[in-house]
Amino acid sequence: MQVVTIGGFKGGTGKTTLACLLGVAAVKDGFRTACLDLDRNTRNLSSFLTLRRASRLESPDHVMVMDTEQEARTNAKPKHAGRLEPLVRMAAMDGYDLMVIDTSSGNLADVYEAHLLADIILTPMNESPADMHGLFAKLGTQAAPRINYREMIDTVRFDRRRAGLPEQHWHVVMNRVAALPSKVGTVINDRVEAMAQEAGFGVSWSLRDRVAHRALALEGRSVFDNPADGKLTMSELSGRSEVRAMLSLLSRAPERVMPGSFAVEQKAAA
Ligand SMILES: Nc1ncnc2c1ncn2[C@@H]1O[C@H](COP(=O)(O)OP(=O)(O)O)[C@@H](O)[C@H]1O
Ligand SMILES: [Mg+2]
Repeated sequence: MQVVTIGGFKGGTGKTTLACLLGVAAVKDGFRTACLDLDRNTRNLSSFLTLRRASRLESPDHVMVMDTEQEARTNAKPKHAGRLEPLVRMAAMDGYDLMVIDTSSGNLADVYEAHLLADIILTPMNESPADMHGLFAKLGTQAAPRINYREMIDTVRFDRRRAGLPEQHWHVVMNRVAALPSKVGTVINDRVEAMAQEAGFGVSWSLRDRVAHRALALEGRSVFDNPADGKLTMSELSGRSEVRAMLSLLSRAPERVMPGSFAVEQKAAA
């Protein structure tokens, strides 16, 4: 089983949209797929998938990770790592081919764990300086956000190396790319290319800004679902191939090794 974690501490970059599209594309391509929704505030992925089921659209299985009663009462941040590993392990034993994990934009223990357990990390960003700074600004610079995603990825890489696990693929997906090129778009793309070298991520994929993707929140219908009149627009067809290009990465990712000792390692490091 491959685990794809979709992350980034900047909100509104397209994490949930991408998670839903990948999950649906994978199911349509015959992969047994589970989606995990870690965003306990918005629960967007859960609502997309609930809408899909209500509309009788083919959907991945899905789990919403809930707070315990005490966490909900005290509004405490989940501090315990180790909650996701059994879920991932069970899904693998159950014969799933793919698990897509949608994370929230906060630096929470289970978001970190979702990155640690991933075979592939996908980080969507819009062609906008706000997203670039929000995700990748260097610590200590004026634009740096208080919680730094790059720093978390470095920690995840360190912890995986220490546990003897293979290096993960990390891809930044340019999202909501405009049909018309712009000066800002060119500047962002150049800077992201340069950062890719330095931070060690790939930027091979992009998703155009498409009305069809926004429509996910209406009935849960995606570009992969045939319209009632059977006529797909050019935009829907191109939208499909953009997402399928990302799915093809899965077959090239290193086979995962079940991390038996993360909990122990983490305790030892604390
Ligand atoms: N490729 C896209 N084309 C059009 N709208 C998009 C696209 N990706 C995301 N959106 C829209 O952008 C907004 C934020 O997306 P969302 O997936 O909820 O981001 P996140 O989960 O990172 O907070 C939503 O309104 C969504 O419909
Ligand atoms: Mg989201």
